[in-house]
This record gives sequence, C-alpha cells and structure tokens, in this order.
Amino acid sequence: MTKIAVFASGTGSNYDAIIEAEKNGVMDAEVALLVCDTPNAKVLDKANEYGTPTFAFDPKQYRNKEMFEAKLVEILQLEKVDLIVLAGYMRLIGETLLRPFEGKIINIHPSLLPSFPGLDAVGQAFDAGVKVSGVTIHYVDEGMDTGKIIAQAPVQIEDDMTREDLQKAVHQVEHTLYPATIQKLITRGE
Ligand code: GAR
Repeated sequence: MTKIAVFASGTGSNYDAIIEAEKNGVMDAEVALLVCDTPNAKVLDKANEYGTPTFAFDPKQYRNKEMFEAKLVEILQLEKVDLIVLAGYMRLIGETLLRPFEGKIINIHPSLLPSFPGLDAVGQAFDAGVKVSGVTIHYVDEGMDTGKIIAQAPVQIEDDMTREDLQKAVHQVEHTLYPATIQKLITRGE
C-alpha cells in the first residue's frame, strides 16, 4: 500500500479530507505521517485525534533549511514514504528534500496556475476581479508553484460573492479534488 506523508502548516482541512478518503476507501493509501513546521498548528490536534504519527518542528531551531530538510529526509526514508502531499505547507521545498523525492512531491494551490502563484492566491484572484478561479494540483519543483500541472478544477466567482465565500468554495473543491487526484496517481503507479 502506498505510504503518504502529508505536510501542513495550519488548519489542515485538506489533511482532514485526505484522512476521510483513506477511511472511506476512496483513496487506496495510508497516511503514515503528518509533518508540520508550526508547532502549535491546529492540524496537529487533528492528527492526534486521528492517530496519525506526527513530526512537528520549528525551523528556527535548525541552523538552516538544509539541516531541517536533511532531518525530514531521514524520517521519511525510515517510514518508507512513497509520496509527499503538501497541503497548506507554506514553505518552499529545497534541493535537500527535492532530490531524493524527485517526482514524488505534489502540492495543492488555490488558483488556476499559472495565474496567482504565491501567497494568498484566493485574495489575489478576488482583488483581480476574475470571474473564474479554481484549484491546481501540481508536481513540486524548485520554483514557487511552477511544477508540472496534474489536475485543475474551476470555481466560478459570482458577482455577490465575498472573499470568504470564494475561500469556502475553493476549499470545497480542494477537498474532493486532492484525494481523487492522489488516487489517480496511485492507480497509474506514479
Ligand atoms: C489550501 O487552500 C491550499 O490550497 C493553500 O493553503 C490552504 C490550506 O488550507 N496552499 C497554498 O496557498 C500553497 N501555495 P488547509 O490548512 O485548511 O488545508
């Protein structure tokens, strides 16, 4: 069975969706580890509730990115993780982690890339006044939201929608698209 590590920094609603998909058999994979770079993040409470093993770390306690990524590689290899799923992990992945997991790290981004990369993509789309935004799942490379696109789904922005409405609609799409896409990758043996 494919072993997944979910990386998250905050609330973890996508982690929730992935766990639910595992429980309901929508996704034929085991979430073997939750990695979190924010020691008090809500997602850690959720992981404890669900019984997912966690590795929480404070990047400030390491000399540099190479040091904490080397630690992550050690843990991920020990756990025999096949696929790293970034779910609101608000940090660029560096060479140290990318190299051993080339083609095995995916990310979800709350816009239709290449539009609105980077932080607060929902706010960027809202402020730009676009009528369609959406969700992208892509492979991770060294750039910011630049890797090869795997899946996308649109979200219509109606005239009476608030920023919060858009955030909610984007999350809703994410919660089905991410588990379904992970399952597709597993079926294809990627
Ligand atoms: C998600 O909307 C995800 O697309 C976004 O962070 C949110 C995390 O929500 N990721 C990025 O913006 C990455 N560039 P969650 O913690 O509730 O899963």
